[in-house]
Parts: sequence; structure tokens; C-alpha cells
Amino acid sequence: MLKSSVRIFAPATISNVGPGFDLMGFALEQPGDIMIVKTNDTGLIRIINNTSSDIPLDPDKNVASVSVFALLEALGCTTGFDLIFETKINPGSGIGSSAASCTAAVVGVNELLNRPFTQKELLPFAMKGEFIASGSVHADNVAPALLGGFILIRDYNPIDIVRLEAPHDLICTVAHPNIQIKTSESRKLIPKELSVKKALEQCGNIAGLMAGLTTSDYALIGRSLHDVIAEPVRAALIPGYNEIKARLSETGALGGNISGSGPSVFALSDNPESARKAGVLMNDVFTKAGLDSKVYISKVSRQGTRLID
Ligand code: HSE
Repeated sequence: MLKSSVRIFAPATISNVGPGFDLMGFALEQPGDIMIVKTNDTGLIRIINNTSSDIPLDPDKNVASVSVFALLEALGCTTGFDLIFETKINPGSGIGSSAASCTAAVVGVNELLNRPFTQKELLPFAMKGEFIASGSVHADNVAPALLGGFILIRDYNPIDIVRLEAPHDLICTVAHPNIQIKTSESRKLIPKELSVKKALEQCGNIAGLMAGLTTSDYALIGRSLHDVIAEPVRAALIPGYNEIKARLSETGALGGNISGSGPSVFALSDNPESARKAGVLMNDVFTKAGLDSKVYISKVSRQGTRLID
């Protein structure tokens, strides 16, 4: 018998990962969204918000329902669904809040329709939702949120997703200061063109990061976490960012950068003590800047968006 309701977990994600602007991202174990998806007999997609986050209730403006519309259109399906937000990653935090909403919704609806699509085939639908949040097509949050692990998007046209094996003992510290940055706004700061000199610098760091990940060369991972595209223009939006970046080496962390479009900041470490110290440093610097922050410490999660109990 077909199920009429499912509960879904969708993980937070760190995108860009330093030099991989729009091209790299990975899933965290925590935090994440929890969404209940139910069929309804109205033929409508309804948004129900049981969280304290501000979520658009208009289905044409909500990233989750827009993703579901794309999925249903591909199937010619007119079933109605309730998308019930139970736990929400803070919107505008830079850890893939909109991506988690998109992937939770499409995985839930796909399950209730008896899985007409594979998990990977759901990606274009989730990207449609992500588009309305950021005003551009990018999959560096939705792909790892959907599929788990460390993901490289080699190309968008057509989309070519490559799964990278990250070392098992790699630990991510992420601190979310209590301010919001809209991805659509911070993308307006991104330069339209790049000199060959800067392009080479970026390519060197992407290649270094990938080589470091696949050979567990931690020092190489650390010195590759630099970005000449987004970091220089977005750093000014995050109070204390330059101090955190400059002082990360004191903690023993390998390196760090802005998480997605910010304001969250992340660091990678090869041991729990450095990961903890990086969290203390981030929290201290944000406190000095007058901001409360929330710190998460997590390995790269191999699991993406999935059914729970
Ligand atoms: N790659 C995107 C950006 C991620 O940096 O704008 C935003 O979530």
C-alpha cells in the first residue's frame, strides 16, 4: 500500500569549500531540516510552518514547493501535498537552508509517489527551488544535501556530478553568527570577470584541495582553502572574518573559509581537539564583534536527504 506521510531529514551543507565557488560542497551530519510530507486531497501544495523561522507560505515563493511543482510537472501528476516544516536550518545562514528545504520536499514527494525517480534524478527539481532563493543556477548545496558526501560539480551544462572521497577523520567546524546574508544579494558582489592570473590561482587551489582530499594530504587541504572569487568581496560582510581566518592556525585547524555565501564560517581539522578550538576561536571573535553564534562540529556525512522513523 502507498504511504500517505513520510518524515524526512535533509542535512546542512558547506558549499564552495574555499576555492570551489559553485563547484564544491559537502554534507554535514548536523544540523538539518526535518520535514513531514503528506498527500492531501485538495490537489494543492500547502506549506505548513511549525518552526520559528520565517518561511514563505505562498507556494509560488517557497523553494520547497517550487521544487515539488517541477517534479510533479515532469510526471504530469496532480496529487496535492502538505509540506510541513518541523525543524529548519536558519535561513540566510550560509549552510544550505534553502537547499535542505528543496531536497527534503522532493525526496518526500518522490517517496509518496513510489519513487518514480532515483535520488540523483531529483537534482534538477531541487535546483529549480534553489534558483528562486539565489537568483542563479547552482548545485553546490543541493547536490551534497541530496546525495551526501563531498561533491564536485565538474560542469553544469549538462550537469556532471563527481563524488569525492574525503578522509574519514576530516572534521568540520562551522560557526553561524547571528546575522543573515541573502545569497541573492551577496552574489551581486561576485566579479563578472577574472584575470588569467587569478583563474590560475583558483585552479591551483581547486586541484590542490581535490588532491589533498583523495590522498589524505592534510597540509595540502589546508593550504588550498583559499578563494580569489568570493572570499575577497564577501569577507567584509562578516564581522570578525579576517581575524578568524588569520588566527585559525593557532587552533591547529588545517584552514577555513566562508561557508557558502556566509555569514557562517567553516574550518577543517584532522583531529577533534583542533576542531573544538576552532569553534572556540570563532565564537570568541564573533562575541567580540557583538554577535552571538552557534557552533557545530561534524564529520562529512556520507548520507544525504533521507527518510527517518
Ligand atoms: N555557491 C553559492 C554562492 C552558494 O557562493 O553564492 C550559496 O549558497
